[in-house]
Amino acid sequence: MVSSTLFTCILTSAVLGQVGSAKPLAKRLDNGLGKTPALGWNTWNAGQCNFATAAKALQAADLFDSLGLKALGYNYINIDDCWSNKARNSSGYLVADPARWPNGMKAVADSLHAKGLKLGLYGDSGTQTCAGYPGSQGYEDKDAKTLASWGVDYWKYDNCATPGGNSQPRYEKMRDTLLSSGRPIFYSLCNWGRDNVWTWGGKVGNSWRITDDNFNSWSYVASIAARGATIAQYGVPGGFNDWDMMQISNGKLNAGEERAHMGLWAIGKSPILLGMDLSKISSSSLAIVKNKALLAINQDPLGKPATTFRPSGAAAPSASALYPYWAGPLSDGVVIGLVAADSAATLTVKFADVPGLGAGTFSWTEVYSGKTGSGTSVSAQLALHDMAVFKVVK
Ligand SMILES: *[C@@H]1O[C@H](CO)[C@@H](O)[C@H](O)[C@H]1NC(C)=O
Repeated sequence: MVSSTLFTCILTSAVLGQVGSAKPLAKRLDNGLGKTPALGWNTWNAGQCNFATAAKALQAADLFDSLGLKALGYNYINIDDCWSNKARNSSGYLVADPARWPNGMKAVADSLHAKGLKLGLYGDSGTQTCAGYPGSQGYEDKDAKTLASWGVDYWKYDNCATPGGNSQPRYEKMRDTLLSSGRPIFYSLCNWGRDNVWTWGGKVGNSWRITDDNFNSWSYVASIAARGATIAQYGVPGGFNDWDMMQISNGKLNAGEERAHMGLWAIGKSPILLGMDLSKISSSSLAIVKNKALLAINQDPLGKPATTFRPSGAAAPSASALYPYWAGPLSDGVVIGLVAADSAATLTVKFADVPGLGAGTFSWTEVYSGKTGSGTSVSAQLALHDMAVFKVVK
């Protein structure tokens, strides 16, 4: 017999569908997760396949504690590609590679949970992952059940080895199976910004990648941020634009560029998923990713991404180049970001030009230097690619 609850749901949506037939219901994914951008660490940038092991996950958990990351809210330990056997078992289920997970995946999830941390895993919406491990196409139900049975908290879903065409139905199918898995699982869409994912990602996932990978150089950091500025309005609590994993402390960015990488991702309300070998992080990089004032801006409950604005007299922004002037609302003020995108510069903005502020005198704190002041403008003298982030209190 069909349960009356189920029947009521079907009936209600059918009726609503008719009454509100002019437009589809703009329904957002509501799994209770991702009200603020995810904070954590991922294995891929740090060590690709080599880091997809229980030993690295448990080491990361210890380092979250000893480095003081956990105390600042970093909680996801996300295992990227290469964690499973190359073949499903004869019943069609994914198997955690016993050489990498000698006690199984659930033992690692239990251990992280006991420390107040969360476990993320990686899969793919096609037939194979990008590194050639089994994909979930045709196995969505089994894989969602497996994740729930292991106690997995986060699922990054990639876009390799697919039949092509619009990716949205593939991502929706996995959403539906995750929702019926019995466990709230953060759903991270990784279709590389295809199919204008930001226009539908909020109905499907808790975050969605907006570009191809953040390969390790300043040009990727700059171009991802430029894209982020154009679609800031799609990020809200429960679903945020994902600018991809961090490349801080991976040998290619100088300290100023690392400040800009962290600063732009933080004010853009991107997830911040660290991507360095945590056992080798430099003290300069550690200070940047542990900046408490900046993390508070990223985690502000209002959840409104900053975007670019044009001060009087400044050149117009272009959609493809990093722009120096950024601002966004906070629950208790306004954030202003100034980035020396093209050359060393002293950048100044009058509060009268800043959206959400206006003429008047305001107090500010610059998050990296800790400098404070008050007045009618802020100014920063910056080396090439360096960034200053001002929290302005109204
Ligand atoms: C395959 O894996 C699933 C889930 O772990 C398990 O329930 C099932 O017994 C396994 N099948 C075989 C044939 O080992």
